[in-house]
Amino acid sequence: MNQAVAATAAAASDLVDALATCHAQPLWDRYHRVTRRLPAAADAPWQWRWTDMEPLIGRACAEVSMEDAERRVLLLTHPAFAGAVATTTNLSSGLQTLLPGEVARPHRHALQAIRYVMEGAGAVTSVNDHRCAMEVGDLVLTPAWTWHEHIHPGSGRVVWFDGLDLPLCTQLDSMFFEIATPGAVAVEALPTRSASLRSDAVPLAPDACDAALAGASRYRFSGERAREALRRAPARADGSRLLRYVDGVSAGAVLPTLDCYLMGLAAGQATRRCRSTSNAVCVVASGSGRSVVADTVIAWTANDVFTLPHWNWISHTATSQDAVIFMMTDRELMACMGYLREEESEP
Ligand SMILES: [Fe+2]
Repeated sequence: MNQAVAATAAAASDLVDALATCHAQPLWDRYHRVTRRLPAAADAPWQWRWTDMEPLIGRACAEVSMEDAERRVLLLTHPAFAGAVATTTNLSSGLQTLLPGEVARPHRHALQAIRYVMEGAGAVTSVNDHRCAMEVGDLVLTPAWTWHEHIHPGSGRVVWFDGLDLPLCTQLDSMFFEIATPGAVAVEALPTRSASLRSDAVPLAPDACDAALAGASRYRFSGERAREALRRAPARADGSRLLRYVDGVSAGAVLPTLDCYLMGLAAGQATRRCRSTSNAVCVVASGSGRSVVADTVIAWTANDVFTLPHWNWISHTATSQDAVIFMMTDRELMACMGYLREEESEP
């Protein structure tokens, strides 16, 4: 190193040190680290197989009482997030089980949440006192600050997928939580943003939707009706069919931060490769198949849960005739902020 260069480097280092004493940094030597050229998800795609999780659900039922647990949930936590409750960027999820006669007492929180029923029937989620039946394939919403409790007057265990925006809410430090007390007053959810997001998905409104009614019809989508709507939906160019669950009042995403879809796949036909800045957690509603997510191949079957972290090329192929995937995404959230970018290419 010549003397001039050495002197310049020493001066630069001295300046950086001086800036640090004032809690300031130069942009010029870290510009490319601060403003990356492309998104790079912290998490690799991940899978929680039903064959692994089902025995653990059985153990949790046998070993953990509701008196102790309040809510018997197995959190699906990706190792990339170092112990935080996150399944992928912005989204968290878990597998919740309720046994006959059990009750998960009412509470409410700033978190937006959904439940997608994976096994059983006969349970009820009460949302602001509107009773929503829970049977396999049903989707029940608990929007921010709505009171909700779970009861199970039926028989046999009920298992559902819990999906929340917990990592986002934590990042924004916007968490509020309240346990219900006698006389607690309910506030119905506000309509979500209107349907402006471009998509070739067929919209599916809540059961018995009435735009003037802010009641139970806003919080439950029956699995039976969703399956029927999926069968009637036109096939896309790659043979897949896509439903978007929409808010009963605004016809936008079901919740401001959670945007849900049901996708049916044509056996043996790969979907068009796509990538998005949005993230998804998938629950296999039925059938089997495989998904290619960047360089990872995920072979899946019914009740498996797997993630689609942002900005990976993704394609799905069914290996059975009845392959259907439920998808919880943050697509609407990303669009709302102006961060949604999506691309497609041939398989
Ligand atoms: Fe809750």
